[in-house]
Amino acid sequence: MPYSLLAIPQWLFLKGKMCGIVGYVGEREALPIILESLKRIEYRGYDSCGVFVLENGDSKLHKDAGTIDHLKENLSESEYLGGGKIAIGHTRWATHGGPSKKNAHPHLDGKGEIAVVHNGIIENFQSIKEMLLSQGCEFVSETDTEVIPHLINRSFKKFDQAVNAAQIKEAVKEALSHLTGSYAIIVAVKGFDGLVAARNESPLIIGVGDRENFIASDVPAVLEQTNRIIYLEEGDIAVVEKDSIYIENGGAEVKREEKLIEWTIGDAEKGGYEHFMLKEIHEEPRAIMDTLRGYLVEEEINFGVDFKVEGDAKGKSILMVACGTSYYAAMCGKQIIENLAKVPVQVELASEFNYSDFVLDGTKVMVMAITQSGETADTLMALKKAKRYGCKTVAITNVLDSSATRIADETIYIRAGPEIGVAATKSFIAQLVIFYLLGLFLSKMPASEFLEHLEELKRMPQIAQMVLDEADINIRKHAGYLSKYEHAFFVGRGVNLPIALEGALKLKEISYIHAEGYAAGELKHGPFALLTEDTPVIAILTPDNTYEKTLGNMKEIKARGAPVIAIAEEGDEEVEKYVDEVIRVPETSAIFSPIPNTVALHLLAYWTAKARGCEIDKPRNLAKSVTVE
Ligand code: AGP
Repeated sequence: MPYSLLAIPQWLFLKGKMCGIVGYVGEREALPIILESLKRIEYRGYDSCGVFVLENGDSKLHKDAGTIDHLKENLSESEYLGGGKIAIGHTRWATHGGPSKKNAHPHLDGKGEIAVVHNGIIENFQSIKEMLLSQGCEFVSETDTEVIPHLINRSFKKFDQAVNAAQIKEAVKEALSHLTGSYAIIVAVKGFDGLVAARNESPLIIGVGDRENFIASDVPAVLEQTNRIIYLEEGDIAVVEKDSIYIENGGAEVKREEKLIEWTIGDAEKGGYEHFMLKEIHEEPRAIMDTLRGYLVEEEINFGVDFKVEGDAKGKSILMVACGTSYYAAMCGKQIIENLAKVPVQVELASEFNYSDFVLDGTKVMVMAITQSGETADTLMALKKAKRYGCKTVAITNVLDSSATRIADETIYIRAGPEIGVAATKSFIAQLVIFYLLGLFLSKMPASEFLEHLEELKRMPQIAQMVLDEADINIRKHAGYLSKYEHAFFVGRGVNLPIALEGALKLKEISYIHAEGYAAGELKHGPFALLTEDTPVIAILTPDNTYEKTLGNMKEIKARGAPVIAIAEEGDEEVEKYVDEVIRVPETSAIFSPIPNTVALHLLAYWTAKARGCEIDKPRNLAKSVTVE
């Protein structure tokens, strides 16, 4: 049965996409409560925000680009005295349409009577928008979300306009039946003293109070008000009033258990994980899936940018510039794109590119800047230098409207969601996904081979999840062992050499162990001198033409007394004869093996640092975005 992207198991959708939505209905002033709730989940997205307050039959909408503090500063004292007791709010991580006032949520229908906040991605919003435009609807934003209030209004017109819970619920259900994609929404309607909430693939909870109730993407938003939580499930739609909660699924009322949450606020912001980094490693399957969904519809890859690269010597080639983990992603991208598309790819450290006398023919080379933050000074400088050479430039980044997007001619966004931990994890793996898509997009392989690769790429969220579910226990054991050392080597070959370098960097960054990444065949050219029983070697075995050679390297390394931990596929029995320990990962084609290997090495670095009691989310001397040269 061909694996379809849409067949991805529901568990993959249990991890939220990144925006934060909140709602309040009760007897207290809603505005300060909503703003505080948004502040508590600002880590879910912080490029724009807004609130919609219902008061005495009227309503007020405040929204803008920028943070919640910025919005609060612009609210005059009088606004706070509005006294509205029902409100919804949103803090945004932009995916469709840049951070701006018009793109900020809440979004309204044409008459401003229906307001919606949304977390997720509506895949078919373009066709819905065209249908609504043809029916006279007017749109003010570039977002996918704005189609929802218009659909609800259109559905509402089919009822007798009685503004009551049942009619609104039916109108929301009817509207949602047109959508494909992920959503968690909260709907406020003028004249109705309640809120309607619904979820599909994005998380949504209800905080239960005394004559007041709360709705939010995440527990932290409500934990200061209540620790009585109802987790809405897939397909649930809820009508929430101050003294009642009605939940329905598949047309029938359902009862959802009210849970008592013992977390502190800090725990809750990390979704119950001890560190953002661990949460973000566990979001790697979701980051893969969201990045795929951003550019893959059916079997069609579309980056939405008009660039072509000819693979022959006379045509364009690609030069990638990046720093740190993004540089290792670019190194892996080179292997992936050259393997799949036979397009020449060169990779340079941005900080070196900037000060080298580069021979660069701008008419033949497309320069790609790989940068999670889109703000790394070295990489921005490299982009500007590439433009001076006359090169076409593309930014591959995670942050909408970041500086890199404003310098580059074109932008491709990874859809990893906000990455709070200083150590890059899910953004790295999302960068690899872009390279797989790019390699297939540029390839000239036969259709059957293309589809075979595409089907395997669609299985990567599941492969990544299998590492998290099945390898984690074993990895924690090896992490405890590794944590006792002060030096380590990571080795790999081919497409997994960059992964070995990334594994070494991750371990260095957060555990402060001096780890070096090396080509497996290179250790014998000098570094062998450092091998002792105190220098464990983590070796990635790639199931390709380098496998035997790497086994040979293991033998040489073992002969010098160094402990060897292999990262190898399930079912590879041969490797056990050459190493001390094996961390098993799911089987894939060699070209896709960086995905499971990366998840395993991110977990290894995390658990090793934890065993050493390190400060994981904010390692010493480091910053999330290096905006200085
Ligand atoms: C990776 O874990 C580090 N935080 C660092 O190497 C980072 O990858 C580098 O500074 C580049 O950042 P960028 O991707 O935002 O440009």
